[in-house]
Amino acid sequence: MTKVLINEQLVEEKDATIQYNDRGFVFGDGIYEYLRVYNNKIFTAQEHFERLLRSAREIQLDVNHTVDSLTELAKELVAVNKVVNGGIYLQITRGSAPRDHRFPSPDIQPTLMGFTKSYGRPFKEMDQGIYAVTTEDIRWLRCDIKSLNLLGNVLAREYAEKYNASEAIQHRDGIVTEGSASNAYAVKDGVIYTHPTNNYILNGITRQVIKWICKDENIPFKEETFSLEFLKSADEIIISNTSIEVMGVTKLDGEQVGDGQVGPITKQLQTCFNHYIDTKCV
Ligand code: PDD
Repeated sequence: MTKVLINEQLVEEKDATIQYNDRGFVFGDGIYEYLRVYNNKIFTAQEHFERLLRSAREIQLDVNHTVDSLTELAKELVAVNKVVNGGIYLQITRGSAPRDHRFPSPDIQPTLMGFTKSYGRPFKEMDQGIYAVTTEDIRWLRCDIKSLNLLGNVLAREYAEKYNASEAIQHRDGIVTEGSASNAYAVKDGVIYTHPTNNYILNGITRQVIKWICKDENIPFKEETFSLEFLKSADEIIISNTSIEVMGVTKLDGEQVGDGQVGPITKQLQTCFNHYIDTKCV
């Protein structure tokens, strides 16, 4: 039986209930993280939980936790659910209170919820590449916060689904931002381009790993904005996130990308990613 984390307690799934007026449910007033588990261990836990605490600060949510205490909770969840390979979802909301847009008085407890999923690495997709579409970025202007408000992301992802694509790469007025749940990259003449980290994108942890790899391997990594036209003329297109790691996009809006195969830079990143799995798991 899988267990769910509710406010520091591990409870059976059937007992994992949240109050009807929890602000996460009513307002999307909360933040979350999604972490990867490889061989029973948590990948880049420190980076993920630092980002969670940053998201909390940005929405003025007092979280009574540290990177270490969150890592301990996540480890307990992985152990109790015997996750070998998979993921951990962890969210914190501003707690439950009578519906009022104003923050409740500070003595209410935030609600913490976490669960795990078991699944392997996406080797087939990494080999073959995936299809993506482009769509307008209609999200709010604080996409750097990993907030529970994901309606824009959900609508973009559903748009991709309609075209049998795995991801929607978004743009604001023709400037590529990121995928519905991933960071996006264009490779041109051996240089990787990706949107700079500001309020328009999430500072992805996988993006940070890619940046480390580029430094190790002397691959030019340019954090510069680029246009939709540039993306369409790229030699390779990559998307990345905690679940799919480094993924080549071989078809965009129905058109072949480059020669239609997963490109050499994408493959190099995929290979080098294993080194970080070996060294960044706790
Ligand atoms: N999402 N951008 C957006 C909008 C995302 O939702 C995600 C990840 C990323 C990549 O971040 P990271 O490399 O840290 O996973 C970028 C996770 C997987 C999710 O919502 O489940």
